Amino acid sequence: MFRINSIKKTIKVSAIILTGIFVVLLGVFIGHIVSVNRFNSQTRQITPESITTEAIVDIHPRGQATDSWMKENTGLGYKLNAKIYELVLTNNSLSLMSDWSLRINIHEECFLNNGWCGKFEVHQFGENGEEKQQTVDLRDYNVNDLEIDYTLGGQDLLIPLKSGDYVIYHPDDSGVSGEVPLKSTGDFSGMAVCGFIFYSRSGNVDFMDYVLDYKLYQSYFSGRLGRLFIVMFPLWGIAMLFLGMVFMLSVRYEERFLAQERLLGDTFKLCGDLADSKDYYSKGHSGRVAKYSRMIAERLGMDKSDCDQVYNAAYLHNIGNSFVPAQILRKGGKLTSEEYEIVKKHTTKGAEIAKELKGIPYIVAAVNCHHERYDGTGYPEGRKEDIPLIARIIAVADAYDAMSNDRPYRQKFIKEQIREEFIKNRGTQFDPKIVGVFLDIMGEREL
Ligand SMILES: [Fe+2]
Repeated sequence: MFRINSIKKTIKVSAIILTGIFVVLLGVFIGHIVSVNRFNSQTRQITPESITTEAIVDIHPRGQATDSWMKENTGLGYKLNAKIYELVLTNNSLSLMSDWSLRINIHEECFLNNGWCGKFEVHQFGENGEEKQQTVDLRDYNVNDLEIDYTLGGQDLLIPLKSGDYVIYHPDDSGVSGEVPLKSTGDFSGMAVCGFIFYSRSGNVDFMDYVLDYKLYQSYFSGRLGRLFIVMFPLWGIAMLFLGMVFMLSVRYEERFLAQERLLGDTFKLCGDLADSKDYYSKGHSGRVAKYSRMIAERLGMDKSDCDQVYNAAYLHNIGNSFVPAQILRKGGKLTSEEYEIVKKHTTKGAEIAKELKGIPYIVAAVNCHHERYDGTGYPEGRKEDIPLIARIIAVADAYDAMSNDRPYRQKFIKEQIREEFIKNRGTQFDPKIVGVFLDIMGEREL
C-alpha cells in the first residue's frame, strides 16, 4: 500500500532542511552585504611612500617637442617656463574605482595654468595664514568669478602657488572621459590619463608630494561568494517550487486515497454487517470486533494506516458465515460435530472470498486465521508461531465480544469473568502480549 504519510513526512523534513539552508544562505548573504558595504565605503589612501600596487600614481612631463615652452610676457617682470604634465592613475585592483581625488602639495613657486579633464580645487595661503579656496574648471571659467589670486600673462591664466599651498585634482565624473569610475586593469582600460600645465622659473615642478584618496566598489554578486549566491538562490527557489508541487500533488493524492479508503471501509462494513445479519445474536458483532481490534492495534503503537487495516480486516473476519446455514448459526443448543465442522469452514470459505481482494492480502490472513490458537490447537490449519499478528489481535477482540454478549445457550459474562477467562487462556488460546494489552484497555475504559 502506498504510504502517503511517509511522503508527507519526507516533504516536511525536506521543507525544514530547505528552510534551514535558506536561513544559513540569508545569514551569509547579509554578512556578505555588510562586508561589501564596508569595503565600498572605505576611503583608501596612497602616497609616494605607500607600498602597494593596488593603484599606481605616476606624474611626469609629457615630454613631446611641443609640450614645453618659454613665456616672456608673463606680466610678472620675469620669464617663465611652461610644461605639460601627465597624471597617469592605474587601477590594479580587481574592483571598480568608484571615486578618487589627488592632492598635490606645492613646495616651490609655480603657476597653475590649465588642466583637463577634471577640475582643480586650489588652496592658497596668505602671509598671515588666511586661506583662499576655489574649485575651478580651467577649461571653462570666467575670470570675473575667480575668488583666488591670479594674474593674466596675455591670454594665459596664471594661478600663483607657493610652498605650503596645495591643489586637489577632482576627476571628470561625467562618464565621458572614463576617469571616474575607473575600471580595473582586468577590464578594458584601468587607466586614467589627465593633463595639466604648470609654469615655473625653472620649468620643472616637483610633484612627489601627493596623496591619492580613493574608494573601490564591488557588486554584491561579484567575486566567488557573490557568484555563489547567483547560483544558490535560484536553485533554492527551484527546490522549494518542486517541493511545493510535490506537496500539492500529495494532498490531492491523499484526498483521493482517503475517499477510496472510505469507500473501501464502507464496503467492508456492508459485507461484515451482511454476514452478521444471518444470526440475531451476531448483530453488530463485526463492527464491535473491528472497534476493539483497532484499540489493541493503537495500543501496540501501530501507525494509522496499519490500524485502519486491522479495523477493516476485523470487520470482515466472519465473512465466511455467509456459507453457514442460518439454522446452524441460530441454533440454541449445542452443535453436533457435523454442524461444528460446517461452522469451522467459515474461515476457509471466507478466505477464498477474501483472496479475490488481490490488493489487500492482509484480509485473507485475518479471515483465515482468527480461530487459530496460540498453542497450535486452533483451526483451520493449527498454526502456532506463524499466526499473523492481525489474526491474533482479532482473536482477542472476537472472544471479548462473544463473552460480553448473550448467546442462545448462555448469558453474557460480567467484566470480572471475562478478565479471568483471558488470564486463564493467555499463552494457550491467546497471545499473552495481546491479552496483556487488552486487559489494560479494559481496565482503563468502558468498552
Ligand atoms: Fe469467526
